[in-house]
Amino acid sequence: MGSYRIAVFASGRGSNFQALVDAMANGSLGGEISVLVCDKPQAPVVERARKAGIDCFLFQPKDYASREDYEQEIAAELSKRGIDLIVLAGYMRLLTSVLVEPYSGRMINIHPSLLPSFTGKDAIGQALAYGVKMTGITVHFVDGGMDTGPVIAQHAVEILEGDDEASLSERIHTAEQQLYPEVVSWFTEGRITLNGRNVAIAAPVKR
Ligand code: GAR
Repeated sequence: MGSYRIAVFASGRGSNFQALVDAMANGSLGGEISVLVCDKPQAPVVERARKAGIDCFLFQPKDYASREDYEQEIAAELSKRGIDLIVLAGYMRLLTSVLVEPYSGRMINIHPSLLPSFTGKDAIGQALAYGVKMTGITVHFVDGGMDTGPVIAQHAVEILEGDDEASLSERIHTAEQQLYPEVVSWFTEGRITLNGRNVAIAAPVKR
């Protein structure tokens, strides 16, 4: 059996991408990051990929007539590489059925709130503005909606007295960087089963 092949989609800083790269390097990911797909060729995540020797598929949405047009090119690139799992790591674009349908059950996202609270942009700011005492992170399957797919894992992060966006973001990002590589390893180990909206995670096989 060949290695488990992963495509990471990202648009920005790439701290989650880096955590996945580090987990690949230390062997705990259990798969190979074959390509970074990025819609912002100047984003810091691209430099991280270059340093790690990971191929990049870069594009500018404004060069295409529609989202479907660039997603078709991405889909061709992914199928050429035999991608098993798409990992969205701060990819700030809605996806169309061109990618969502063929990768149904094989595409995951990380979102900085306890879904279904605070979907969409600026989830951390939304939680602070609402005044909740507890927020967190969610890893979920991607479906046709915005942050609506079945939940795979969640981790709560407490909002502390005096927290601002910077301090809360830092704790949320730390939690993300621990959880996301672990969830991806559950996929590479074949431990995830999706049944309707419910996701079961099998115990690790003892060696
Ligand atoms: C992460 O906090 C991720 O949860 C969020 O973007 C950030 C990317 O950070 N994603 C969303 O808000 C998706 N709706 P990073 O570029 O440093 O990994």
